[in-house]
Amino acid sequence: MVPFFDLIRQNKSIHPEIDRAVGRVIKNGYFTLGPEVGEFESEFCKYIGVKYGVGVASGTDALTLAVKALGLGKGDEVIIPANVYPTVFGVALAGVDIKLCDCNKQGNIDPSDLANKLTKKTRAVVAVHLYGNPADISGVMKVIENYGRKIYLIEDAAQAHGAQIKFKDQGQKMKVGSAGDVGVFSFYPTKNLGAYGDGGMVVTNDESIFKRVQKLRQYGEINRYHSEIISGVSRLDELQAAILRIKLKHLDSWNEKRTKIADKYKRSLNKSSDLKVIINEQGISSHHLFVIRSDKRDELKKYLEENGIATAIHYPVPIHLTVSFKYLGHKQGDFPESEKLSREVLSLPLFPELKSKELDYIIGVIRSFSVD
Ligand SMILES: Cc1ncc(COP(=O)(O)O)c(C=O)c1O
Repeated sequence: MVPFFDLIRQNKSIHPEIDRAVGRVIKNGYFTLGPEVGEFESEFCKYIGVKYGVGVASGTDALTLAVKALGLGKGDEVIIPANVYPTVFGVALAGVDIKLCDCNKQGNIDPSDLANKLTKKTRAVVAVHLYGNPADISGVMKVIENYGRKIYLIEDAAQAHGAQIKFKDQGQKMKVGSAGDVGVFSFYPTKNLGAYGDGGMVVTNDESIFKRVQKLRQYGEINRYHSEIISGVSRLDELQAAILRIKLKHLDSWNEKRTKIADKYKRSLNKSSDLKVIINEQGISSHHLFVIRSDKRDELKKYLEENGIATAIHYPVPIHLTVSFKYLGHKQGDFPESEKLSREVLSLPLFPELKSKELDYIIGVIRSFSVD
């Protein structure tokens, strides 16, 4: 059986380092908002190239707190691509009005459809760097900057730790998460940088947004027991932060391994007439997922399963066709590319420890499906 993802293999390679980090936290006796969280926030910010970061309990919370920190709520529209299932929940929980736009063939936000969806009420746009592939941030910026008043750009970089945006005009490279007003990350275990449980971070270069996220993280406080706004609690814990500090040191080499695997998939599968490979069109990908499109997706998935290969679908239902977001009043056909993607996408096994024997086997099985 070739697994879709295997954390046991990764854990084996770093076990002694993790043991030492966990032991240090237990010895210190601080379990929330202590030195490990502070150090990890600084180290991660340095890695991403931003001034401020606030560690929170999950990527979903990071989205909610980011939107709230921008001062948005009921009556304010936030635009999100219709194909990215996990993003919408964190945004909706901030109480704003959800507005959807379509994606391009690669699954990232389509700036031209975004331009059609802007209204007087639009206050923010979420660009998701889906599958680790940087979204067209220049295109999105052009659309929102031409609108004539401030529209915030939120980057959802939950799948893209270490991916880079290249700005064509300036020849400049930036890590994703650092280009917008605010960036959010998830440290869910299977992410490129994953905790041993849940975790997330909000990053920004804006001190006032940073301070508001800090308050929203715990009882509206910056100084203990001096609450300034009513909020709940969403903390990254010390054990997760200590583990993430170790894993951050390995992130670039893990991303390089992912890139090599993705390149081999691309070279081997691109010529197949039955499927299309989702390619990275902008900057440098973190290759979180390797995704193909096929109009025989379900048959191919079954065939791979029968041959011992696990796959996944990201995502099988576009947001407007879920029961939860029926209230938005959309119908089938409103976001054609998002709907087509949901029928065609298939994510193949991709993780740094995938063996070359396994990779060759997967490629061979896919080719034999195409021939059959
Ligand atoms: C693009 C994207 N946004 C947000 C999230 C939410 O992150 P979390 O699972 O940490 O709440 C995820 C995780 O699945 C994601 O992939």
